[in-house]
Amino acid sequence: MKATPTPLPAAGHPADSPHQVLGAHGQTVAAAQKYEGKREKSRRMRNLHAKELSFSRRAFERFGPDIHVLDSPCGTGRFLPVFSGAKQLTLVDLATNMLEVARSKTEGMGHVTTLNEDIGDLSLADDSVDLAHCMRLLHHFETDKMRLHVLKGLARVTRGRVVFSFYTSDCLRYKWRKLRGTNIRCHYVSKAHMAELCERAGLRVIDHEPKVNLYEQQCFFICVKSRPPRNRNRPFAAHRARDC
Ligand SMILES: C[S@@+](CC[C@H](N)C(=O)[O-])C[C@H]1O[C@@H](n2cnc3c(N)ncnc32)[C@H](O)[C@@H]1O
Repeated sequence: MKATPTPLPAAGHPADSPHQVLGAHGQTVAAAQKYEGKREKSRRMRNLHAKELSFSRRAFERFGPDIHVLDSPCGTGRFLPVFSGAKQLTLVDLATNMLEVARSKTEGMGHVTTLNEDIGDLSLADDSVDLAHCMRLLHHFETDKMRLHVLKGLARVTRGRVVFSFYTSDCLRYKWRKLRGTNIRCHYVSKAHMAELCERAGLRVIDHEPKVNLYEQQCFFICVKSRPPRNRNRPFAAHRARDC
């Protein structure tokens, strides 16, 4: 099979661009590869990585395999082993270096398309994918407005399901950090609040994992499209989350 050629823009973006590439992954391929290695750094990271892969694999088995999957943001293509069996796979990331690493893994895969885009301003048509997958992004957005905008965008492009992860405040890790006054870098929301945002985006939560978050903060939601989102236009791009 032949890879779909999607030219990447020149490295970096103009400093005043809303899509400016910022944050912990830097701009080079080496920085992206270093980020990838982070998943192997400690037992906790390896466990989280395994949990995330297992969740996504089960979601794919539940709704796949004869489907069009959108993985946004795809990062360095961590979920390629899970989704490569889909009928069609679209990988989206705003960082050119991350996407370049992901793209290097898709050589010979004609059913895979890579797009250098903002998740808040996806060029995909309405109802064009069956499963939209968004791992490890939402906790980087500071406001409900941004979270809602991203969820609405995912609801717009899917004709079926949206699965995503976020950091929930309904866990001991968060409460403990709050109590101790530890610096909390990411943005946590309760499961009830996230479900409400989903509802406003036109998504209904049909399942979540884990059933109870004891210590860990990561929570996975599985949603179905309930109705068209109220606001179908694209008022602003989500911008790249910092430090993700
Ligand atoms: C923590 S990484 C997660 C990547 C992948 N989902 C994973 O779990 O391996 C966050 C990714 O989001 C990308 N990103 C940040 N803001 C974005 C935006 N507004 N649109 C698309 N991608 C974005 C970053 O470039 C980075 O690759």
